Amino acid sequence: MASHSPLLLTLALASFISLISPTISLTCSTQNVLFSDKTPFQTCLDLPELESYLHYTYNATNSSLTVAFVATPSRSDGWISWAINPTATTMSGSQAFLAYGSGPGKPPVVKTYNISGTNLTEGRLAFDFWNLRAEALNGGRIVIFTTVKVPAGAGSVNQVWQIGGNVTNGRVGVHPFSPPNLNSRAVLNLTGTASGADGGGSKAPGNAGWMTTNVKLGVNLGVLVLLGAIFIF
Ligand SMILES: *[C@@H]1O[C@H](CO)[C@@H](O)[C@H](O)[C@H]1NC(C)=O
Ligand SMILES: *[C@@H]1O[C@H](CO)[C@@H](O)[C@H](O)[C@H]1NC(C)=O
Ligand SMILES: *[C@@H]1O[C@H](CO)[C@@H](O)[C@H](O)[C@H]1NC(C)=O
Ligand SMILES: *[C@@H]1O[C@H](CO)[C@@H](O)[C@H](O)[C@H]1NC(C)=O
Ligand SMILES: *[C@@H]1O[C@H](CO)[C@@H](O)[C@H](O)[C@H]1NC(C)=O
Ligand SMILES: *[C@@H]1O[C@H](CO)[C@@H](O)[C@H](O)[C@H]1NC(C)=O
Repeated sequence: MASHSPLLLTLALASFISLISPTISLTCSTQNVLFSDKTPFQTCLDLPELESYLHYTYNATNSSLTVAFVATPSRSDGWISWAINPTATTMSGSQAFLAYGSGPGKPPVVKTYNISGTNLTEGRLAFDFWNLRAEALNGGRIVIFTTVKVPAGAGSVNQVWQIGGNVTNGRVGVHPFSPPNLNSRAVLNLTGTASGADGGGSKAPGNAGWMTTNVKLGVNLGVLVLLGAIFIF
């Protein structure tokens, strides 16, 4: 009887570790994406859809948000995009930075889009931004860098990101309509790690809240399994 317990305890520990580790070992923290002055960003997030990543630093002094958005186009002539929607959590109304490859050895093209409905036409954005550029990374990935002005005192912004269809003669094709492409939006909390509750009054899930929830679930399950093992012992 007692000889079963070490096995159970090992299983309990293994499941405990496997449950919490995916949320702790963020892929983005291994990407070595740096500021223009070669320092790391304050925070990075593995976004919950489309294998996309956001590195960001918020400067509350002048309410500027510097980001590096990393994603991989689904095809060599495809596009990636990261946007803020100042007025809603939807794609429509998004103020988007969009990049696509421009051939081997050349930096990707990056442009701004003021999206209304499903109309993907280049346009001016509703807020100021600086230092917009894109770089090709290995593995076909593209990174978009920019600094945007956020309304003073805003605790969060609605972010929307996307991996699109093809680009033909500079015309950007529609993105797929699969669930990940439709769910790729979230509240980005600028003031710290969110609790599970969404303080922004928006319907989209907060990134930090999503991660916290996963850690809590992992810990709770791990504790339950440990308790079970102790009872059997
Ligand atoms: C934040 O912005 C202010 C005003 O531009 C600047 O003085 C300060 O150095 C910035 N802080 C960081 C960490 O970049
Ligand atoms: C805010 O600070 C950033 C980083 O220091 C700087 O690049 C930007 O120009 C500043 N923006 C304003 C509106 O002062
Ligand atoms: C898309 O938006 C642009 C700029 O606002 C406009 O000129 C164009 O007519 C729109 N296209 C469609 C199909 O609505
Ligand atoms: C963005 O597009 C909307 C709808 O076409 C328009 O009302 C708005 O003025 C545009 N924003 C800018 C900054 O041009
Ligand atoms: C690009 O995508 C559009 C819309 O999905 C499609 O109609 C067109 O055939 C595609 N072009 C190429 C060259 O694949
Ligand atoms: C952001 O995180 C802070 C610190 O946990 C929290 O107090 C605040 O309510 C959050 N805001 C939003 C909009 O989620």
